Amino acid sequence: MSISLKPYIGSRDFYPDEMRFRSWMFSVQRKICSSYGYGEYSTPILEPLELYAAKSSEEIVSDQLYRFTDRGDREVAIRPELTPSLARIVSARAKELPVPIRMFNIGNFMRYERPGRGRLREFYQLNVDLIGSASASADVEIVSMGAEILKGYGAKNQDFLIRISDRRLMSSYFSDLSSDSLRKLGRLLDKKEKISPEDFQKELLQVKDDKTFSEKVDSFLSLDLEGAFNLSEQEKLDSDAVMHLRQVISDLEKLGFADCLKFDPAIMRGFDYYTGLIFEIYDTHPENRRALFGGGRYDKLMGLFGKHDLPAVGFGMGDVTLENFLKIHELIHEDTQNSAGIYLTLFSKEMMDHNMKIAALLRAGGLEVETSLEPTKKLGRQFEIAEKKNRKFAVVIGEDEILNKMIRIKNLQTGEQKDVSEDDMVSVLREGF
Ligand code: HAM
Repeated sequence: MSISLKPYIGSRDFYPDEMRFRSWMFSVQRKICSSYGYGEYSTPILEPLELYAAKSSEEIVSDQLYRFTDRGDREVAIRPELTPSLARIVSARAKELPVPIRMFNIGNFMRYERPGRGRLREFYQLNVDLIGSASASADVEIVSMGAEILKGYGAKNQDFLIRISDRRLMSSYFSDLSSDSLRKLGRLLDKKEKISPEDFQKELLQVKDDKTFSEKVDSFLSLDLEGAFNLSEQEKLDSDAVMHLRQVISDLEKLGFADCLKFDPAIMRGFDYYTGLIFEIYDTHPENRRALFGGGRYDKLMGLFGKHDLPAVGFGMGDVTLENFLKIHELIHEDTQNSAGIYLTLFSKEMMDHNMKIAALLRAGGLEVETSLEPTKKLGRQFEIAEKKNRKFAVVIGEDEILNKMIRIKNLQTGEQKDVSEDDMVSVLREGF
């Protein structure tokens, strides 16, 4: 049986032309995170299984984890998300790291999910987290960074919608429910948009077998910020949560996000560790109305590692949904598709040494140079290769050029050619023509 040439189901290979786009996509994220003073970090892709049990989402642990026993009989898992690893490494150095701790990572993750639009088994995620502050300003920074990253690609406010809520609203509104029923209700609300109304009603009865319960859930889901505030005054909703949320929303409005921000009690987020603010950013394009990314506040996760609690807030932005967003809104930077760099042709074997010298000078000048390894007098053939490789310029050096300390440059798009001295070649190629 021959070996399949396809990558493992739900994962992707990236060839260099695809990596150009991806490098640009990640470079925008790196630039914005660095501009807010976040430091990049990294953790292993394998973690002990116990890191996720009780510290992640039940769905992920029971259905989606890639797990195995290693040769040393250790139970390990491929990371399905980064937050538990981040909590682990921050807890390990909690005393040394100066708060607030601002960190980001771009890495790959695996979840055993059904592959489909926006969902794969291996995906990449930018994680941005701010640890050590419980303030509304920390939440505002995190939410606005997510939006600023989209704007960094050229998106406009009308291209996305930030849906925001607080986990404590549900627990205080349904304070008569046990913590187990609350968790079930949270999970059910989280998947409400993915199941039929009939199935939703059926599952609701499993949370609480009471006719008025469904009405209560409806009125919770239709709450607006004013209604939430009124209920908090009557002590029917957690007033700390409502005040915090009002502050975050008002600050985000002041930062210019009023037209792409919505309080939405239906936002739940799947993870058990969220304790306060939760948010999801949606694409508003009619053909791609789905969650682009999400996050929230998790103030109790660090405490699970045996040390003291440290409040924290962050988000995870996946590459698959982001790529769909960039494509559908036509935001892919043209440089990622344009031709670039130089192809240095080779006339004869004897000229190899001279070619290498020229290539080194061009590279030292900051240019991207790919050299031909096989000599051929048929320049047309070498130009064809250069064009196929999407190079912008081809450089030709013959005996005359060597004698005169010149090179010949051909612009492969326009066909225009120029003879340039070795002294000027770097500046001419850098400026382009
Ligand atoms: P999450 O909502 O599970 O949160 O994932 C965040 C984003 O990662 C999703 O909105 C989506 O863009 C992407 N994503 C997740 N699963 C997949 C998949 N199977 N295929 C493609 N993309 C996917 C978390 O992971 C939290 N740990 C985020 C966080 C960081 N919260 C606080 N800090």
